[in-house]
Amino acid sequence: MQFKKSKVVIIGCGNVGSTTAYTIINQGLCEEIALIDINKEKAVGEALDMQHSIYFMNRNIKVYAADYDTCKDADIVIITASVPMDPHANNRLDMLAGSKKVMKSIVKSVMGSGFNGIMIVISNPVDVMTYYAWKLSGLPKNQVIGSGTTLDTARLAVEISRLFDLDSKSVSAFVMGEHGDSEIVSWHSATIGGKSLSDVMSDNAERAQHETFDALREKTIKAGWEIFHRKGSTTYGIAASVTAIVKSILFNENRILPVSILLEGEYGLHDVFLSVPTIINETGAKEIVEIKLNKEEHDALVASSKVVASYYDALKD
Ligand code: 2OP
Repeated sequence: MQFKKSKVVIIGCGNVGSTTAYTIINQGLCEEIALIDINKEKAVGEALDMQHSIYFMNRNIKVYAADYDTCKDADIVIITASVPMDPHANNRLDMLAGSKKVMKSIVKSVMGSGFNGIMIVISNPVDVMTYYAWKLSGLPKNQVIGSGTTLDTARLAVEISRLFDLDSKSVSAFVMGEHGDSEIVSWHSATIGGKSLSDVMSDNAERAQHETFDALREKTIKAGWEIFHRKGSTTYGIAASVTAIVKSILFNENRILPVSILLEGEYGLHDVFLSVPTIINETGAKEIVEIKLNKEEHDALVASSKVVASYYDALKD
């Protein structure tokens, strides 16, 4: 593997941010990881702990606590910080008011450093927060990416693969739209090993007879809450999905991932950040892939865009 000398900054050293840093270290993806947190001692503690893990890793990554000036020459800044979610919450959109204040302060500090790399937003509600970060930053649209439904797509693949005892990587089925209750699945383009999912389900009726597309979508939507309500957050799935985006950028992979990106006419949608399949490379979001949606799927995507855009007014000061 050709190692690329590069620097990733992670803002927010909570469960998601620190696990993302550790996942990047495990995969040896960059030269430096800088950790920023409002609680500086937390960032120092996480960095010191991770430094000891480097001894066992396949790459000598420099990991350290830093201030915002470190963003100046960063290739990627990952924003994970948001307000703690209510333990009884069941909708990410409820986090908006708190996350808005945090996001405004963070983006101002990042851009104040002279940053001109790629910004990846994880903070929920991620589609609205990514739109807000893009507006505040003034960065070109290809340089502002939300983790979006990359994680939901993995969750759906895991659900489907369980039905047929397969590796989830053999499932290709995009979750699109809001990273939340209004997300959609493009079922008619879903395949397993090149065979349409519909055919696989009908050819394996004994395995799939009690499963429906709607039930699979519901399980995918609820998957994050099944974890959150048991352990108080989700970490490994989101960290691994963001690390896949980071890897496609740093290694110029041109991997297609369903990230939250600004739509300007694609899928007939305008001025909204929503997850759709996108080619990710060293430029960030290189190109949006418009897969064929049937009418029902497209109508559902339009509805999802309306849910997300309905929150834009709440971003106004
Ligand atoms: C999730 O669904 C954190 O929103 C993220 O796990």
